[in-house]
Amino acid sequence: MTRVNGKVAMVTGGATGIGVGVVRMLVDEGARVVIADIAEEAGQQLAEELGESGLFLRLDVTDEGQWQQGIRDLEEHWGPLDILVQSAGISRPASIEDASLAEWRDHMAVHGEGAFLGCKYAVQSMKKAGGGAIVNISSVESIRPGPLFTCYGAAKAAQDAITKTVALHCGERGYNIRCNSVHPAATYTPLLEQYLNSAEDPAGLEKTYASMQPLNRIATVEEIAHAVLFLASDESSFMTGHQMYVDGGALTKPYPSGEGA
Ligand SMILES: NC(=O)c1ccc[n+]([C@@H]2O[C@H](COP(=O)([O-])OP(=O)(O)OC[C@H]3O[C@@H](n4cnc5c(N)ncnc54)[C@H](O)[C@@H]3O)[C@@H](O)[C@H]2O)c1
Repeated sequence: MTRVNGKVAMVTGGATGIGVGVVRMLVDEGARVVIADIAEEAGQQLAEELGESGLFLRLDVTDEGQWQQGIRDLEEHWGPLDILVQSAGISRPASIEDASLAEWRDHMAVHGEGAFLGCKYAVQSMKKAGGGAIVNISSVESIRPGPLFTCYGAAKAAQDAITKTVALHCGERGYNIRCNSVHPAATYTPLLEQYLNSAEDPAGLEKTYASMQPLNRIATVEEIAHAVLFLASDESSFMTGHQMYVDGGALTKPYPSGEGA
């Protein structure tokens, strides 16, 4: 399998959830991948399992110094970056009445500042490589946020604006760097499981989440990773600034009312 053969990639949030699925798929398709995450144990373990194709770097995406150091370390190890996938994320659902300013700032820091810094330093490195592909993991909540996703929806919408402006800038400058986003609906990961388990009736909330998609189920990590792989590879060479919905059809329906949705 050689869809990204010889490419150097970095996946933020690569230690768990969607990020792990993306890391494994990129490696299976011939890339060498830096797992950039704050979850050290899980990240190290995955890197060890991947052998020479995996490297763990502790990188908090909200910290500019760590981005600078991380890209330097990556370049020393494998040369400049070809692919950046930004999957690091947090989600603590709360309405406008319940969400605190601290929650707002946390969401904006990880999704907004994180995406800003990631794109900024990836573009510098990709220019040395003669081009590249950035894939930002957004959400259906950036397009149609539910009432409990005030902070998350706004932060993901900020991330979307960054995706588009980076696509425009790099296109106009002729950098051969593309920037796209993937928008999953509910996907089975530790993030979703934690949320479901915090409900009074986890099975009921799981059903509510599944019913938000015309396909009437929740996505697997692999279903999201397939879309990311396509946008990261040269197969999507004429796509930039694109928002790819991997949502089981969720965005074709109005937002449902109901507990926890
Ligand atoms: N799971 C879903 O239902 C779903 C749906 C739509 C979008 N998303 C998005 O997909 C992405 C991945 O989510 P997931 O469900 O795999 O979550 P997850 O919690 O399983 O994984 C997120 C990873 O991000 C890392 N992370 C968090 N803050 C970080 C920081 N400051 N610096 C570096 N790493 C950090 C965590 O350590 C973790 O490894 C997120 O951006 C999320 O918003 C998830």
